[in-house]
Amino acid sequence: MGRVVASAPGKLILFGEHFVVKGYRAIATSVNLRARVDVEETSGSWVEFHSPTLNLKSRVPLDLGGFHGEFEVYVEILRALRREGYSIVPHRVVLESEMPVASGLGSSAATSVAYALAYTALLGDPLGRDELLRISFEGEKVAHGRPSGIDNTIATLGGTVVYRRGDKPTPVNAVIPEDYTFIVADTGLKRSTRDVVEHVLKVAEMLGEAGEYVYLAADRIVEKALKALETGDMRLLGSLMYVNHGLLVAMGASNLALDTLVNIARVKGALGAKLTGAGWGGCMIVLAERGKAKAIVEELERHARMVRPVSIHVPGALIETL
Ligand code: PMV
Repeated sequence: MGRVVASAPGKLILFGEHFVVKGYRAIATSVNLRARVDVEETSGSWVEFHSPTLNLKSRVPLDLGGFHGEFEVYVEILRALRREGYSIVPHRVVLESEMPVASGLGSSAATSVAYALAYTALLGDPLGRDELLRISFEGEKVAHGRPSGIDNTIATLGGTVVYRRGDKPTPVNAVIPEDYTFIVADTGLKRSTRDVVEHVLKVAEMLGEAGEYVYLAADRIVEKALKALETGDMRLLGSLMYVNHGLLVAMGASNLALDTLVNIARVKGALGAKLTGAGWGGCMIVLAERGKAKAIVEELERHARMVRPVSIHVPGALIETL
């Protein structure tokens, strides 16, 4: 009986969240917090799902009928694979993620991508990148309703991309010099992306032409950030992060918890910091010189649920063992 483990990375939006909703550019990158899925063939007549992190287990019949609660996203992946001609054989799935869920790091997309890759590898016919993108998007539709597609794109391809709604994401050759690190901090506050997006759009409408200048400024920041990433100019990149955060504050996407963490990072000497993703909770990111990271992490830990130094621009989906 076969067994395969595959993994895929989470994502961080480095620049342009919210502004991307109205057609401007954003930059997203992969982060070395990974979802890992272990798939093992069994002799039973079920697909068995187990999430040790969420302490959940469920059994699904091989015809994949019915609604399967927390595991519906992964059952949808199997349905999509069946439509592509893959057979559904009895197997056990253990899903694990290093990311906090529902905090904007793309945990469900990374898990879907890792599962689709592991299961098809178990059947001896692992999905290629384009197929993986297509199949994992089916899971995203169940998880998010109207997904942008960026989470499963980053989980599949890894690296860093610039994207605009409706266009194919373009890879960015990011250079992150050794002496610098990123830090992710989770406020621990759950929020609905949809609610924040609606709020920001209302503010934009109210501001009219003045709002359009904010969106244009955000787009120019993306442009400069691309250059800073490609040349490894971390000082410039950090300044742009602070300014991008300021624009998100202006549009009403931040809150006290996020602003507190950004200000702590600034006071402790970080080169840059901003909320990442929708805002009103979830996560923020910091860019710092390695020498200053310890002090920044220690201070953030007093106010955040989870704080982790991370690497960005890491590889996408991969099979870990066969
Ligand atoms: O909730 P997240 O982290 O996936 O971020 C949403 C990003 C927004 O720009 C706010 C919304 C979107 O669909 O692009």
